[in-house]
Amino acid sequence: MAKILVLNGPNLNLLGRREPDLYGYRTLSEIMEELDRFAGACGHEFAWLQENSEGVLVEAIHKASADSVDYIIFNPAGYTHTSVALRDAMMAVQIPFIEVHLTPVAAREPFRQVSYFSDIALGVITGFRGESYMLALQAIINTIDP
Ligand code: DQA
Repeated sequence: MAKILVLNGPNLNLLGRREPDLYGYRTLSEIMEELDRFAGACGHEFAWLQENSEGVLVEAIHKASADSVDYIIFNPAGYTHTSVALRDAMMAVQIPFIEVHLTPVAAREPFRQVSYFSDIALGVITGFRGESYMLALQAIINTIDP
């Protein structure tokens, strides 16, 4: 049994009504509920959260370490392209993580093609809208139980 945490950055609370042609029509809760069911059916402990503030996300990463979380699925959203503080937090806790994005960030504006996380992630999944999270969860579970 592994403890798996999904961390979501700013504006992802607006999924479903935020530029739906780009980000899709599913809400974050709908996507997370599907992951929760799948992780539970596979015998793993699952939790998720969404925060808009960088400092609160830093605190959540510290808490994940204190709570002995085994894996993180991380969509840092806009902070992907800016946040040394969140990168430092991930480096500090050394919890293996997969970076996910709903959109194909490498094919978007040049500023979105810079990530402060990709080089320290186990892997990166982009471009499958809400399905990106499920693919990350499956990758983690397959790694645990090959
Ligand atoms: C995003 C991509 C980011 O560039 C953007 O700022 C987001 C969402 C994605 O999931 O595609 O908020 O992380």
